[in-house]
Amino acid sequence: MSDIRLDPRLSAVASLVQPGNKLLDVGTDHAFLPCFLVQRGVCPCAAAGDLRPGPLENAKSTVAACSLEDRIETLLSDGLDSFPPQTDCTVVLAGMGGLLIAELLGRTSWIRDRSVQIVAQPMSHAEDVRRFFFQNGFALEKEVCAADGKHVYCAMAARFSGKPTEETPALPYGGLLFGQSDPTAKRFLQTQFDRLKKRRDALERAGTDKEEAARLREVLDDFCELKKQRSGSGQ
Ligand SMILES: C[S@@+](CC[C@H](N)C(=O)[O-])C[C@H]1O[C@@H](n2cnc3c(N)ncnc32)[C@H](O)[C@@H]1O
Repeated sequence: MSDIRLDPRLSAVASLVQPGNKLLDVGTDHAFLPCFLVQRGVCPCAAAGDLRPGPLENAKSTVAACSLEDRIETLLSDGLDSFPPQTDCTVVLAGMGGLLIAELLGRTSWIRDRSVQIVAQPMSHAEDVRRFFFQNGFALEKEVCAADGKHVYCAMAARFSGKPTEETPALPYGGLLFGQSDPTAKRFLQTQFDRLKKRRDALERAGTDKEEAARLREVLDDFCELKKQRSGSGQ
């Protein structure tokens, strides 16, 4: 039986999964995460879905190599569309863009339940995922960062609370990472800041979209304020 090992990015995702929950892995590709978590007894069972038949074949091969066919179901699914509604589970969406993750979450009503944990690991535009959580009554519970070579990734856990989170201009760009002293989280925040600053500078030079340039100025000011306010608050 294969012993699954995870890279730093997927290890960060795995660290957020609530032990004892059934895992629903959306966009699973090789199903490394469900196989790892079921092998180690963190999750009793899992369902691994993917939009495309090729990645689903990858998933089936890994599940078979781990002899976990009786505990990990594989299914073709666009987002969560083919997963039956459930409770006491963790839904993972990792390795996809932030906008796509937000869209897939937005069209699934049964995740608005306090027993459903959501773990998201956007490869880009993490602010779209946090905005989705803030505006739709989900509370961010924990965020972690992981570095792999020159890349830094963030992963976040959230749950429906019914109460929207009040946003400041920069909060979607850093969420709970603003309070962290972890050097990898600081590196992630710096990358976000540099990206925003580069865009603002380009817009100011071009003089084309004054409204967006003004919005980015506000975001950058608030970014510095949040970093200052929350530094030393721990995590
Ligand atoms: C880069 S892989 C990530 C695999 C794994 N989750 C990870 O984090 O390593 C992205 C996977 O998402 C799948 N995907 C893209 N859009 C999807 C959708 N709408 N619903 C389900 N899966 C999707 C792709 O087919 C691909 O296998």
